[in-house]
Amino acid sequence: MRNRPEDAPLPYYEDPSPGFGDLPPRAWYPASDAARLPLDGTWDFRLSETAEGGDVAFTSDAFTPEPDAGWGPLTVPGHWVLQGHGAPAYTNVRYPFPVDPPRVPTENPTGDHRRVFDLPDDWPEDGEAVLRFDGVESCARVWLNGRELGVFQGSRLPHEFAVGHLLRRSGNVLAVRVHQWSAGSYLEDQDMWWLPGIFREVTLLHRPPGAVEDHFVHAGFDHTTGEGVLRVDSSPAGRVLVPELGVDVATGDEVRVPVEPWTAETPRLYAGELVTAGERVPLRIGFRTVVVEDGLFRVNGRRVLFRGVNRHEFHPERGRALDQATMREDILLMKRHNINAVRTSHYPPHPAFLRLCDELGLWVIDECDLETHGFCDFEDWRGNPVADERFTPALVDRARRMVERDKNHPAVVIWSLGNECGAGDGLSAMARWIRERDPERAVHYENDPTCRDSDFYSRMYAPHAEVEAIGRRAEEPLADPELDARRRSLPFILCEYAHAMGNGPGGLAEYQRLFREHERCQGGFVWEWIDHGFPKTTPEGVPYFGYGGDFGEELHDGNFVCDGLLFPDRTPSPGLLEFRKVIEPVLMAADRAAGVLEVTNDQDFADTSGLAFEWAYEVAGEPVAGGPLTVPPLGPGATARVPLPSRPGTDRPGAGVWTFRALLADDTPWAPRGHLVAWAQLATDERAVEPAPPASGAAPVRSDDGIALGPGRFDAVSGALLRLGDLAVPHAPRLDVWRAPTDNDLGASWQDDERHGQSWRALGLDRMRHRLDGVELTDDGLVVRARVAPAAAEVGLATTYHWRALDDALLLSVTVLPEGPWRTTLPKVGLRLGLPAAYGAVTWFGGGPGEAYPDTRQAAALGRYRADVDALQTPYVRPQENGARADVRWAELAADVGPALRVTAVDEPFFLTARRWTPEHLDAAEHTSDLVPSDTVWVHLDHAQHGIGSQSCGPGPLAQYHLRPREFRFALRLAAR
Ligand code: GAL
Repeated sequence: MRNRPEDAPLPYYEDPSPGFGDLPPRAWYPASDAARLPLDGTWDFRLSETAEGGDVAFTSDAFTPEPDAGWGPLTVPGHWVLQGHGAPAYTNVRYPFPVDPPRVPTENPTGDHRRVFDLPDDWPEDGEAVLRFDGVESCARVWLNGRELGVFQGSRLPHEFAVGHLLRRSGNVLAVRVHQWSAGSYLEDQDMWWLPGIFREVTLLHRPPGAVEDHFVHAGFDHTTGEGVLRVDSSPAGRVLVPELGVDVATGDEVRVPVEPWTAETPRLYAGELVTAGERVPLRIGFRTVVVEDGLFRVNGRRVLFRGVNRHEFHPERGRALDQATMREDILLMKRHNINAVRTSHYPPHPAFLRLCDELGLWVIDECDLETHGFCDFEDWRGNPVADERFTPALVDRARRMVERDKNHPAVVIWSLGNECGAGDGLSAMARWIRERDPERAVHYENDPTCRDSDFYSRMYAPHAEVEAIGRRAEEPLADPELDARRRSLPFILCEYAHAMGNGPGGLAEYQRLFREHERCQGGFVWEWIDHGFPKTTPEGVPYFGYGGDFGEELHDGNFVCDGLLFPDRTPSPGLLEFRKVIEPVLMAADRAAGVLEVTNDQDFADTSGLAFEWAYEVAGEPVAGGPLTVPPLGPGATARVPLPSRPGTDRPGAGVWTFRALLADDTPWAPRGHLVAWAQLATDERAVEPAPPASGAAPVRSDDGIALGPGRFDAVSGALLRLGDLAVPHAPRLDVWRAPTDNDLGASWQDDERHGQSWRALGLDRMRHRLDGVELTDDGLVVRARVAPAAAEVGLATTYHWRALDDALLLSVTVLPEGPWRTTLPKVGLRLGLPAAYGAVTWFGGGPGEAYPDTRQAAALGRYRADVDALQTPYVRPQENGARADVRWAELAADVGPALRVTAVDEPFFLTARRWTPEHLDAAEHTSDLVPSDTVWVHLDHAQHGIGSQSCGPGPLAQYHLRPREFRFALRLAAR
């Protein structure tokens, strides 16, 4: 316990050193046989504008919190800014106050919290008591029964005070003053909302005489013998009982017993107990050994591949005050989407989350509560706290609080020093302390390119080519040959990649290929798990999610806070579904020529005995036959070649598609039996599209009411399609190249590479004009020529629409020829047409059920789907291009009455998009509530789309997914049925 010097030059909240008055950190556990009293619930609360604004009279017994004096109820745990006092604020890198460490602004929102409590009747008379705070942002001063206990900083870390001598049987007055800003805020510049408050539990813990002060479970696994190696250190000493293993040993003694090891795939835990003179503490022991050797990160002797995500704690109503149900939901969602690892960006999570990771099985990089990113804006990171020795004790204190709290979790295999702090000796001091205290785990830090404090070469957002070079250990060298040689010998991870902001991320499959090809590349962690959007409503009562700038912030970074695989309400985004497919733990590939299905177990530890395999055969999207598929149990890494079932006979016309599935054979703690784990398809006819049908040869006829061609009626002057049979077409098809730029199209301001969305807009692709160059009636159809180009530009697209009559349909062939010096890519190339609003029912045969773009199409399965237009929209928090269905062979748009429009692919499948607003409206919208349905269903039939990539923070689409202007030719068949 440290005392605060009398002559401290700065107020405690500006003091960069660790707090005072609190106890040394120790292992966290949720329960033992010692009594505990949760102090959650309704507290009294008052907000002041400055740190010194309110007096401290509220700490005394005699005080009565009066509403007239600004006191009211507040839920603890909770953030006051989410309970009607002030507002949340979002910045990414920039500190939202003048940077002058360790000083903070005078305007320093300060929340006084007060809670009166009685001890339960059965609270023991003897022993001590400890008051624990699991998380308070950012600085707290604490009093019990009028006596000051101390002060702490370190928001996402635990702090405890000894309080036994102050407790009364009844009428205890706990008073906590919380300052939003403190010296600690300089260490907490994570890219997230600033959310002050007591946001994790406050608990009173009874400490009986002889209770456990601290304990450290060392449970290794010797993969050469299959033995677990167990030693539990404890103060005071006691005994360790693991009945299932027949273990009953003294603390400090090592035992070796045959065990099943713990891995994220096989999270085997053994229940045990630590018994000291005063307490029985339940243990959950997972045996596993972590090493970095031969340039690889290994657990239990095997290389591990991280299929990971970065997870912030976020709940749309409660901010970072997460309940256990939400934590569990996060993990179940992860496991069900084949995710096997979490980086706790960028602070230790609620400790209950780690217990759930132990139980359900996830590899965890536990990251310290540390980021000083805002200093990167100053020359050479001037002033950076990690290079300022005044902060070093606080840095080591943070490392220590994390390690001591979380050291008994088998799931935690790597400690991370923090995020984006540049380089500095403070980081080395943290790493030294951690290595000394816990040599049995690896240490990670990304932001110092020399990797001097890290056991990994770690990068964020490295493009594929760089990852490939690193995979070959052929990266650009560091200037210092010794550091270079060391770094080159390290395993590689992408601690962040695939920026999941808005539509995307693209390019996941290509990263995964690199991770499979290069053993040094041990996977990565997608940025990030969830969009941090807060619910709001328009004055008209329309709900939407708000982001940075929606809460009156002076500085903010807009929707950069919404870059997750889940929407704020935890609905999976298309990006998560794509990720799930790309990281499947079982790979299946059908080889039609050889008549076999190759099945590979891509897990690191588990065999496939928990999976059941099945096949299905569909023709034109209708099931024809199916059944179980016999696949022998495969060990990790093993492959089997299974004969394909014989092709079921059917006289049904259309494309035949095989689907192979791996499902859970039994219920697991994270998903029920039958849950889909992996799948693959094989089409009997790869393309399954029709060749160009022979035209009927009917010639167009001009009459008083326009031009007639087969079932089509066209405007005599513009050549625009007016009717197709009995179907009126209010907006005739015409060339369209615009899409509402995605966050990934727009890119980030610091990106050096071309930002395609910016170039598109600069050129004016959002305001293309269509000049009619001619309407010509020929022997075999109607030819309409146009030049499509934006104002002020010399480039254009010479476009020919060639209409021909088929028996009951029209064949539209389109040719697009770029003119002039095009320097940008195109967002897309296709047709836009408009139907009456009643045409809301969409059926298609093609990729689905969800959206897909050229580099985000792995999860799209070939099939026959139906959806309402409204359900085809993906509600990205900031509206942008979305909802395309890829690989479409045919689509039908229908209304309750009147004929449907059927569009059939000719030669090549197309992308189908249908929405109740135009791309221009989508582009102009800032929130989902800005999207108002029009009287038209806009239908987009796209021949090609530009890729999606990940340039909102990382690399853009790979070159093969760039849509460069060139000659495009495509055709569609249109019919009214
Ligand atoms: C990284 C950072 C994350 C987040 C991400 C972009 O640089 O570590 O916290 O800001 O970029 O969303």
